[in-house]
Amino acid sequence: MQSTTSTVKGVISEVMSTLTGTTSTSNTSCPLAPPSIISANTGIPTTSPPELKNTFTTMTGCPIAHMKNSLTAGPQGPILLQDTVLMEKVTQFTREKIPARNVHALGTGAYGKLTVTNDISQYTCAKLFSKIGTETPLFARFSGVFTEQGDPETNRDPRGFALKFYTEEGNWDLLTINTPVFNCRDVKVGPDAVHANKRDPRSAMWSPTQFWDFTVNHPEGLHQVLMLYSDRGGTPMSFRMIHAYGCNTFSFINVNKERFWVKFHLISMQGCKGFNMLEAKIIAGEDPNFLTRDLREAIERGDFPKWRFACQIMPEEEGYKSPFAFDCTKVWKHSDYPLIDIGIVEINKNPIDYFTEVEQVAFSPANVVPGIGFSPDKLLQGRLLIYDDAQHHRIGPNHKELPINRPIVEPHTMWNIGGNFQLETKDKYPHYYPSYFQKLKPDPKYMEPPLLVNGAVGYYDYPLEGTDEDYYAQPRELFTRVMSTIDKQNLFENIAASLAKVTSEDVVQAVIQQCYLVDQKLGDGVSTLLKSRRMGTKPKTIGETLLTQYNELLASTKEFGKMPATNSVAKTLGTESIAHQVPLRTEFSTQ
Ligand code: HEM
Repeated sequence: MQSTTSTVKGVISEVMSTLTGTTSTSNTSCPLAPPSIISANTGIPTTSPPELKNTFTTMTGCPIAHMKNSLTAGPQGPILLQDTVLMEKVTQFTREKIPARNVHALGTGAYGKLTVTNDISQYTCAKLFSKIGTETPLFARFSGVFTEQGDPETNRDPRGFALKFYTEEGNWDLLTINTPVFNCRDVKVGPDAVHANKRDPRSAMWSPTQFWDFTVNHPEGLHQVLMLYSDRGGTPMSFRMIHAYGCNTFSFINVNKERFWVKFHLISMQGCKGFNMLEAKIIAGEDPNFLTRDLREAIERGDFPKWRFACQIMPEEEGYKSPFAFDCTKVWKHSDYPLIDIGIVEINKNPIDYFTEVEQVAFSPANVVPGIGFSPDKLLQGRLLIYDDAQHHRIGPNHKELPINRPIVEPHTMWNIGGNFQLETKDKYPHYYPSYFQKLKPDPKYMEPPLLVNGAVGYYDYPLEGTDEDYYAQPRELFTRVMSTIDKQNLFENIAASLAKVTSEDVVQAVIQQCYLVDQKLGDGVSTLLKSRRMGTKPKTIGETLLTQYNELLASTKEFGKMPATNSVAKTLGTESIAHQVPLRTEFSTQ
């Protein structure tokens, strides 16, 4: 029998070669299936005796004689419980799903690599950055945030881009989203921020009223909301065309045990592009998997997307004085903290089994490596617990042993014994410490320098809480300086279209007031468009417009299925950028 160590080593080299694409793995017998890494990763034998080579078996390896019909008493039934193949098949079927991620449920993933292009060893001793040219294999997951599995991928939503770097010193997970700021900054508000963006639990319907109600009561989040209601932030054209940001402040620690505060950036080398509202809505109906398809097809044709991976660095002392160092609703000005290159992230290989690779992958900001640490950022602090906790619930206590999550180095952990679906034998160490039988020990060379804390225990506001500088100055900068005229026009449209669905006038007025506090032109732009929608000079929703126009066309010609739908509709709505021809739906009522 194979020893555990040799199995693990075999598994690691298989995973390594698969991730780096250096050797090819064996083909399964199904012509549709690409080379499989699954059996290689788990170490489960894949051979069968020659006489069983082409025969179906049960999950316990027993050959199956029948597939189509259930075992019945007589030709008409009833079905017998002793049809164990049937029992295995249906009980497996009812357990196919695991709980979806509570947020970021809708997504796709792919493999890739990081190549270091710049020497940042003065800031961090992390081995993966130690030499220019070093390549680290990674798995990335692209996601929506509040959209759910099955939703159209072009719905308005922030986007996630999570990376798991398989380094020589263990896994480093970097979770990023496509806005450099978040809509809340204390983890205690996190569940409220999520609930406000999800369906109203009473009706199970999406509720713009609760979203805007939350937004006006959390003006620190306006900064992200303006980005979300822009085309680039809310309706990106492609996962390949998003810039992404770590949002929270992390730390770097160098070989001299000096600490620096750090923010991570991924700048798309494909450019950053978004659909306007009409385009996003039409594509939502036409191809709900648009973003996944775009990424998969780009990888398949060898057009590997790349990101410039960079960081901003703040000296430790400055962080203790700056009001924004640990506030993830704020950006650090590039003029004060310029981008420093780290390397290039390339995505280059599609997964072959969505469930084992994309659904079971588990990212957590708590997974860092020596040289990368945390900060007092109050959102990050909470996130250090939330992700592991979510994954214990979603996947199970042994999720870190799954092939996609395990490190490429052998973990030496002695506290993880038992729990559902343990994959590895735990025969190497005593499961307590210290012990005469224990050869493993902690190594103080990995100790981080002490972190300064200041003040008494209490519930503290952020230093500038409630001031213009805190709530409105950075959104104003974004609106006036960063957004182009067309960005602004589409921002007004996008906000007004959503506000038109809000059922509380108090909330609508509060949103408009917040817009004025950011900038007069933003307030004017949103309120003018909202008024015209309400007075009927502009339709309330795009869907309503499309329906009316289809019905008009149908009424005039009575010839179903022949009209060039989209372009004419697009023209009437004032945009001609839609190239698609949406097939006409004959079931629309003409009433
Ligand atoms: C208090 C605020 C937050 C809460 C409560 C929260 C919670 C969660 C939860 C529960 C998950 C699902 C984990 C799983 O089941 O595997 C998740 C995923 C994720 N979060 Fe957060 N999060 C917060 C803030 C952030 C921030 C600031 C970022 C930005 C960097 C972020 C980025 C992500 C990403 C990219 C994923 C998807 C990971 C994947 O693809 O599996 N989150 N978050």
